[in-house]
Amino acid sequence: MSLLITGGTVVGPTGPYAADVLVDGETIAAIFAPGTGPADGVDVLDASGKYVIPGGVDVHTHMELPFGGTFASDTFDTGTKAAAFGGTTTIVDFAVQRAGEVVGDGLAAWHAKAEGNCHVDYGFHMIIGGVDDESLKAMDSLVATEGITSFKLFMAYPGVFYSDDGQILRAMQKARDNGAMIMMHAENGIAIDVLIGQALARGETDPIHHGLTRPAALEAEATSRAIALAGVAADCPLYIVHLSASEALAAVATARDAGRNVFAETCPQYLYLTLEDQLGAPGFEGAKWVCSTPLRSKHEPHRADLWRGLRTNDLAVVSTDHCPFCFKDQKELGLGDFSKIPNGIGGVEHRVDLVYQGVVDGKLSLARWVETIATTPARMFGLYPRKGVIAPGSDADIVVYDPAGRTTISAATHHMNMDHSAYEGFEITGKVDTVLSRGTVLVSGDGAYHGRAGHGRYLRRGLSDYLL
Ligand code: URP
Ligand code: ZN
Ligand code: ZN
Repeated sequence: MSLLITGGTVVGPTGPYAADVLVDGETIAAIFAPGTGPADGVDVLDASGKYVIPGGVDVHTHMELPFGGTFASDTFDTGTKAAAFGGTTTIVDFAVQRAGEVVGDGLAAWHAKAEGNCHVDYGFHMIIGGVDDESLKAMDSLVATEGITSFKLFMAYPGVFYSDDGQILRAMQKARDNGAMIMMHAENGIAIDVLIGQALARGETDPIHHGLTRPAALEAEATSRAIALAGVAADCPLYIVHLSASEALAAVATARDAGRNVFAETCPQYLYLTLEDQLGAPGFEGAKWVCSTPLRSKHEPHRADLWRGLRTNDLAVVSTDHCPFCFKDQKELGLGDFSKIPNGIGGVEHRVDLVYQGVVDGKLSLARWVETIATTPARMFGLYPRKGVIAPGSDADIVVYDPAGRTTISAATHHMNMDHSAYEGFEITGKVDTVLSRGTVLVSGDGAYHGRAGHGRYLRRGLSDYLL
């Protein structure tokens, strides 16, 4: 039986409009002027007073990521179920190759973790932790045959995922040739390690020192260097991940104004949370908010600048960088030494709500909400128009969103496998009501869950839409 979603306001990148949406099987069959759709032979979902938006696309998650002697606490099962509850119907996770490992083995390991376990559709980027002749060759075959068209490199974490400038340049030249996107963790990890050593030597061991040893200047320097290296690689497509600092945003904006293939994302934690209020919480509490890039000072204009960047498209995407660790036994690995706290914040369940709160607060338009959480990430990473838009022929990944609802974020009610919430007590004016993935109702308006592990399918992605 087909499903007609009636009475709602469809929101797309061009703005809101009243329309009824017909779902047939796994795809959107048609969009009708209100009240003009078929009357017989369809189930009806009444979306009166609600927004009808494309399912969220979160292009930065780390399910089960090995980090700092432990693993991110969400599996593909728990993490994608939580995503579904929050209105995200596609994730793109990071498969990992470390120095000395074969890229294909890392990819196979990620497929083994995800296959049969996902509640929503999923794709992979590949972390290249060891750039050498073999991994460079593998980049070509991943683009050509595996649907993996984006590669993350790290200017941070020396000895773990770090690449030096020569390795970065070689990978960028490869990407320029095969059309892939280079995703960059832009922090000067060599300088940061010096600052960490000096802080620890002074006995500065609390979580806040994680932020203080990763100053904005070292994010900005790495961002500028990545942009320069991509320029040397004939304007290789470059996407800066988890951008948090005004100074880094300024470097991206300058490159974009010059017409460069430079893009960037930010994450909800940088839009809402701060060095002083969260990372600087008393005692060891701040460990909950240890992530890299770090939360920035509330006495500097970072948060306001990031919201502005989202408005002006200098920041194209909001992803979560979902990388959850429990406080007990995982974050606690860094008791007495902040540098041993596993880096990451969980948030895959709350991105759609947290960015919608920006609409309520007058910081973003409805159209930019949908663009930054769904349409642009789909286009940026080769999933459009299958994902990211309400249009005939697209997958029926649809969220009915209730602007009159309320969401209270809490570890007591969230579905992520975390013993705390980075956003504990946050009140959102708005609520995910119904969630469909390829025409299947995963979450119904009464909050009941109907999804299952194994519903989610692997997505082979194309090249980015934003390149000539
Ligand atoms: O703190 C973070 N961001 N952890 C996940 C790994 C990364 O750098 O994205
Ligand atoms: Zn990173
Ligand atoms: Zn990440």
